[in-house]
Amino acid sequence: MSACAAPDFSLRGKLALITGSTQGLGLAIAQAYAASGARVVINGRRADKVEQVVGGLAAQGYGAHAYAQDISHLPEQEAAFGRLCEDVGTPDILVNNVGIRIRKSLAQASLDEILELIKVDLVAAVQLSRLAAGAMAGKGIHGRIITLTSIAGELARPGDAVYPIAKQGLSGMIRALAVEYGPCGITSNGIAPGTFATETNASLAADPVRGPIVIGRNPLARWGRPDEIAGAAVFLASPSASYVNGHILVVDGGFSVAF
Ligand SMILES: NC(=O)c1ccc[n+]([C@@H]2O[C@H](COP(=O)([O-])OP(=O)(O)OC[C@H]3O[C@@H](n4cnc5c(N)ncnc54)[C@H](OP(=O)(O)O)[C@@H]3O)[C@@H](O)[C@H]2O)c1
Repeated sequence: MSACAAPDFSLRGKLALITGSTQGLGLAIAQAYAASGARVVINGRRADKVEQVVGGLAAQGYGAHAYAQDISHLPEQEAAFGRLCEDVGTPDILVNNVGIRIRKSLAQASLDEILELIKVDLVAAVQLSRLAAGAMAGKGIHGRIITLTSIAGELARPGDAVYPIAKQGLSGMIRALAVEYGPCGITSNGIAPGTFATETNASLAADPVRGPIVIGRNPLARWGRPDEIAGAAVFLASPSASYVNGHILVVDGGFSVAF
């Protein structure tokens, strides 16, 4: 019998780029990656917020780098990512976390709103993922691409039509990357969060009518805490997930299995 070995969840020596990591789930993932040994690249559009998070992590002794960049500025993305690879290094791990939402029906949403959401939530992630996968493959890095979808990556609800269209596109992207870059040793997986009490959901959580409805539909009868996304994100980036590819891990307290 071979010796027993505990699963390895360390990210020591890895460089991880997490898009949209100045707050919410992206920040929780960046903090967990740093605590697991990775150097992290903090991204957001506002340079001051990015520097604040980088400074906070550095003050705790973690390796953190700033990447203040609007990832939806597609024409700039290739040059900006190239500079990051030259200045900081080629990421071993990419987390596609940026996501915006327009709570409107298809009839209510303007064409410009539809195009903007699809660009930010879907096309920007597709473009960054193929840049990152190409760079990883070029360096022989057996990298990890992890994409935040949503329970709306499989489901739809009235009055909120465009977000599920983009998120279900991301589910396709996760699988397309998994089959195209798997032969290079690069895996692609997703995380589908349910309802988390992030800054973006603060007004919904505080709403005396809608807040309790969200809680009432969840078998755990509460919102998720942002740090409760961290275990899934660390697992998928870690050596222990080396044979997990093309999977979307739902983290929703059971919300999407209840009816
Ligand atoms: N929270 C939930 O309950 C929930 C549920 C399901 C799925 N999700 C998904 O999980 C992800 C994170 O959600 P969240 O609630 O934590 O988000 P959030 O609180 O709205 O945080 C968004 C982050 O992205 C940055 N950002 C926004 N647009 C950007 C852009 N174009 N380029 C670069 N950075 C940008 C923001 O910083 P700046 O504003 O400074 O750019 C911020 O750091 C999203 O994809 C969301 O769809 C969340």
